[in-house]
Amino acid sequence: MLTNKSTFFEKKSPPHKAVLLDDFIEMVKPIRGCWIDCTFGAGGYSRALLLSGADKVIAIDKDPMAYVHFELLRSEFGSKIEFFQQSFSNLEENEEVLLRKQVDGIVFDLGVSSMHLDKPERGFSFKRDGPLDMRMDSSGHPSAFDVVNFCSEKVLADIIFYYGEEKKAFKIAKKIVNERKNTKITNTSQLADLVRSVLPSNFKTDPATRTFQAIRIAVNDELNELSKGLNISEKTLKANGILAVITFHSLEDRLVKEFGKMKSGRVSRGSRYGPDTEASKPTLLPINNRVRKPTQKEINENARARSGKLRVFRKTGVASSIECKPLYYPKIELGLN
Ligand SMILES: C[S@@+](CC[C@H](N)C(=O)[O-])C[C@H]1O[C@@H](n2cnc3c(N)ncnc32)[C@H](O)[C@@H]1O
Repeated sequence: MLTNKSTFFEKKSPPHKAVLLDDFIEMVKPIRGCWIDCTFGAGGYSRALLLSGADKVIAIDKDPMAYVHFELLRSEFGSKIEFFQQSFSNLEENEEVLLRKQVDGIVFDLGVSSMHLDKPERGFSFKRDGPLDMRMDSSGHPSAFDVVNFCSEKVLADIIFYYGEEKKAFKIAKKIVNERKNTKITNTSQLADLVRSVLPSNFKTDPATRTFQAIRIAVNDELNELSKGLNISEKTLKANGILAVITFHSLEDRLVKEFGKMKSGRVSRGSRYGPDTEASKPTLLPINNRVRKPTQKEINENARARSGKLRVFRKTGVASSIECKPLYYPKIELGLN
């Protein structure tokens, strides 16, 4: 329990239940100074940071819809919190960050929020019918509709194979391309049914899960964003500053894990990050050698927590080293104008 204060958040349950939040607070305390919440969402992490001792939170989210949740926190914490609608890959250009030069802590709680999944009109969910969209920032870049209807069969297969780790990616891509010759694929349920028609049914997970994840990653360029965000964070932290990352699928988690290994000097030759360097002095050290996962109790209370993983690092006094780019996943060019 973080506080006795009775606020909107306690009276009404927030629209997104933050995952691994108590573990995060326990691992990073004592909390003080200025933190950046790179994935503000409904503000669960920002609020917990402010209640636990942070003097200031710079809240960032690329989704303009996050602003309404920021307003609630501003009414509670005033100027201790500021919000910027931007991508965390542009953190270096943020005026508050530039002003401060370095901060005490940075947190990423990755992926989509319940606000994305529960609103059919955002087009993220295969469980609720809506227009194929999946853009977190609803801006001008290609949507899921564009990817599904206009990418080549090869690009679609690559996306589904690499970003969804789906073995039957080629079959699914072929099916999509055949279908779209007759009619455009406009809705989430249409795409989900297409995928289900190719894959055998599995009672544990919906066969459409991996394809939807893959297209969402491609639409939002999520792995590239994360890689950039991690590199910038390392430079933005003070000595002894904390970097905490909560991931929700194996591609993200591998990326964070390998980044941590590389930055802690535990990898040199043969790393899946490039460019390779001589074994360098650590700039980040893991606080938890073993990844932190939600307890069964948390999963029972919030099914969306089940795939969460928390990794926490502390910045050393060594100046930031070279940029690391993950070599795990190809950068797939969509080939769309
Ligand atoms: C899992 S939610 C975060 C939930 C939040 N921690 C809370 O407690 O309510 C992830 C959020 O990150 C945002 N996001 C994802 N990628 C981003 C990026 N590259 N830059 C900025 N925001 C991003 C999404 O729009 C979403 O609101």
